[in-house]
Amino acid sequence: MPTALPPPSPAHGRRIAAGPADLPSATSGPRVRRAAASDLDELVALEQRSFSSDRLSRAQYRRHLDSDSALVLVASANHHLFLGSAVLFFRKRSAVARLYSLATAPEARGQGVGAALLAAVADAARRRGSRALKLEVRTDNAAAIRLYERHGFRRIARYARYYEDGADAWRYEQTLD
Ligand SMILES: CC(C)(COP(=O)(O)OP(=O)(O)OC[C@H]1O[C@@H](n2cnc3c(N)ncnc32)[C@H](O)[C@@H]1OP(=O)(O)O)[C@@H](O)C(=O)NCCC(=O)NCCS
Repeated sequence: MPTALPPPSPAHGRRIAAGPADLPSATSGPRVRRAAASDLDELVALEQRSFSSDRLSRAQYRRHLDSDSALVLVASANHHLFLGSAVLFFRKRSAVARLYSLATAPEARGQGVGAALLAAVADAARRRGSRALKLEVRTDNAAAIRLYERHGFRRIARYARYYEDGADAWRYEQTLD
């Protein structure tokens, strides 16, 4: 996965969590759909806001939106039309799909958008016949690691100096039943 930017400050997170922009999760949680070409601007903007390196470019997103070997998903809730995204890659003759990117808009974090995207990613991979999902995450990305472990991903390897800035990565895998 690309290198995540630091999370928003706790004060920012609390202000958003208590404000009127809250997701009404009790009545209608985030919905996840396949991304369309019209999402391109917001996909690129979220990539810029979420990751500091190894970002997907606009051209790469455009290609992935059109490709059979990639699936780009978008989370929304009511009038909040773009809250997060996930990018999943499939390879011919491989039963393991790769979750390349997962990001929630900073103002919507901590409200279940990441969890909804992960569930949709797993469903989509199952439907494509994948038996497992894999991903890499920075060893210092506590929020993402917590999310993955709570959703059944197991840590299976460490890659030294995996990222451009020299940070290590964990590889995680989830078996799809
Ligand atoms: C990692 C990331 C996708 C999680 O998305 P999210 O929508 O916040 O995920 P969820 O709300 O489903 O779960 C976040 C967890 O943090 C907790 N949390 C609470 N308040 C929070 C806050 N203000 N901000 C973030 N997380 C918060 C949630 O309670 C939840 O923990 P839980 O499962 O133990 O309840 C998001 O932080 C992000 O986009 N980070 C930057 C990009 C990144 O690092 N992507 C992963 C690369 S491997």
